Amino acid sequence: MIRSVIRGVGHYLPDRVVPNEWFESFLDTSDEWIVSRSGIERRHFAAEGQPTSDLAIRAARAALGNAGIEADAIDAVIVATSTPDLTFPATATIVQAGLGMTCGFAFDVQAVCAGFIYALANADSLIKSGQAERVLVIGAETFSRIMNWEDRSTCVLFGDGAGAVVIERAEGDGSNADRGILATDLHSDGRYREILQVSGGVSASRTTGHLMMAGKEVFRHAVEKLAQTTTDVLAKAGLTPAEIDRVVPHQANIRIITRTAQKLGLPMEKVVVTVADHGNTSAASIPLALSVAAARGELRTGDLVVTEAIGGGLAWGAVALRW
Ligand code: ACO
Repeated sequence: MIRSVIRGVGHYLPDRVVPNEWFESFLDTSDEWIVSRSGIERRHFAAEGQPTSDLAIRAARAALGNAGIEADAIDAVIVATSTPDLTFPATATIVQAGLGMTCGFAFDVQAVCAGFIYALANADSLIKSGQAERVLVIGAETFSRIMNWEDRSTCVLFGDGAGAVVIERAEGDGSNADRGILATDLHSDGRYREILQVSGGVSASRTTGHLMMAGKEVFRHAVEKLAQTTTDVLAKAGLTPAEIDRVVPHQANIRIITRTAQKLGLPMEKVVVTVADHGNTSAASIPLALSVAAARGELRTGDLVVTEAIGGGLAWGAVALRW
């Protein structure tokens, strides 16, 4: 059976680190409020004039280096982002050119914070259907560009960054002991689009707009749907939450992460947490966390790893894989 195995992982964070105290200078907020409600202590912001593709290219180079694979051996580049450089072309084509690739194909996936999960599931399908042998899957965002700096309930929560993985076709025996992606589980429900959305867009208003969120409602959906998709993706692979070695959740909010782990009966020692240092980097958060966890030695060959995310749409899902 064809399996998609992660061969390399890498990330990039912009140089500018913004601590919670920075917001105290222009908003009625405090480090104590932000830490206690979200677990976020600092985040990175891209430099003026530094586009999402720049972050993506740097993360991609790190992942290619980690995999020991040259860019021209890649068949497809997928960038998950809701903050593309331009309305078109796809940021992925800008990344493709930036990596010096003159072959293969590149496209973007837009599923907000679930974008990397969607991109990974698509990459797995491209490999399983024989359309690609090696895929570069990137999550990259500059959410600092769509913040409403007067809205203290949202602008303190997000950050910029990028993470990338190289996945490659391998042969497995079809059991859940195989390395690589074992199952994927994707969902969306557009009835909930208004609880987390951006106020502008090309076709609706010819503007970029600002992020708006009904935080309490998003919170409620997040815990319930993330626990369910994690259970479901494991069931598809004939596994249960008790067998998980590592969960790499979307890094939105420590309270969502801990409540979801509790619902699944997982001890926090099994959960990768980077939200304190990165804030919510939307589609970049999972590959960033994978890269940080790999560098910390928290992911070992053969580990059963589940990643899960939810975001605007609502769109959510999970991927179960053996590292
Ligand atoms: N500093 C100080 N006070 C604040 C701030 C702030 N930065 N933001 C809001 N408040 C105030 C509110 O104005 C409100 O004051 P009031 O009672 O006088 O009206 C009070 O704090 C409580 O506000 P709530 O919105 O009820 O605060 P809550 O405890 O729900 O926490 C939060 C807000 C952190 C947004 C929470 O709802 C949450 O975590 N939601 C999930 C949001 C999230 O993580 N989204 C991202 C996941 S999805 C994705 O990644 C796209």
